[in-house]
Amino acid sequence: MRITMTTPAPDDVVSLAETLDGWQLDGGPLQLHPGDLGWFSMRGIEATASAMRVWLREGRPVAIGLLDGDDLLRLGIAPPALDDGELAAAIARSVADPSRGVLPAGVVSVEARGADALAACLIGAGWGTGDPWVPLHRDLSDPVEATPLRVEVVEGDLVEPWSEVHFSAFRGGEFTDAVRGRMVHNWQTMAAGPLYDRARSLLGRDEAGTPVAAAAVWSAGHGRPGLIEPLAVRRGQQGKGFGRAMTLACASVLRDLGASSATVCAEASNPAAVATYASAGFTAAPEVPDLRRHA
Ligand SMILES: CC(C)(COP(=O)(O)OP(=O)(O)OC[C@H]1O[C@@H](n2cnc3c(N)ncnc32)[C@H](O)[C@@H]1OP(=O)(O)O)[C@@H](O)C(=O)NCCC(=O)NCCS
Repeated sequence: MRITMTTPAPDDVVSLAETLDGWQLDGGPLQLHPGDLGWFSMRGIEATASAMRVWLREGRPVAIGLLDGDDLLRLGIAPPALDDGELAAAIARSVADPSRGVLPAGVVSVEARGADALAACLIGAGWGTGDPWVPLHRDLSDPVEATPLRVEVVEGDLVEPWSEVHFSAFRGGEFTDAVRGRMVHNWQTMAAGPLYDRARSLLGRDEAGTPVAAAAVWSAGHGRPGLIEPLAVRRGQQGKGFGRAMTLACASVLRDLGASSATVCAEASNPAAVATYASAGFTAAPEVPDLRRHA
């Protein structure tokens, strides 16, 4: 059956996120989550749609991709199609040929966890492996232990401290007015967009009331795995248990949103992140490398 690839219109993004919801399964591979689209939507819903690629069979999505940067395609594949050789070959053709508008020539990566047929196709075409990732999950059947942090859901005036903590953790350096303005604008774009009703941004304060931790959680609907993206502890405040405490808060909020489990994927090269999630009761699955075309 013929498989086609398309770039969706902005109006299609929500229904594609809902399709991705249905592909999130406890015990399944941790692949592209609707929360990844939501987090990307800081750039606006038009930019999100432009960065998406959808593979259709008989008009129905069987794979959804997000171009996360110039050289990385992150994929979600319908669970029944994970071993589908025809789909794998179609995706492999799409990513091999720069003229198809998916990936450029040269060094590029595809994140497609659990997509064994696609991995076999790309490896067969000379691809190798790239950065290793550690998928982690925590079952949410039982209530989550209380967090020692004071945690607030972010809106209004809290967007600025949330952005500052995030910037401190991931970038560091001076939080200039220009950076503040850009980050607050991006958060507001995300929050005003059509994907944010599935999310909560959280700000954690220490005993003195100082903002020390920032995170966001994303639901894929009731009874499905939710996602933590991102998690951040202010530089200078790391190593004091705030990361573990914020992770517990994230898990608890996801449980309140109806998630069956909390999931996250950490770079294997980020031992602090892996240790933090493990410390908050997450179980690590074996490392999974991206697929990479080295030239
Ligand atoms: C990852 C991060 C959130 C951890 O926050 P933190 O406040 O430093 O973590 P905690 O102090 O709560 O530590 C939690 C556990 O991780 C361990 N840990 C912390 N840093 C570690 C490191 N560099 N190497 C190994 N273990 C480490 C702690 O010993 C602790 O273990 P324990 O509870 O079993 O004693 C923080 O380092 C950060 O913001 N990093 C930059 C952003 C980032 O990488 N986010 C995660 C992306 S997936």
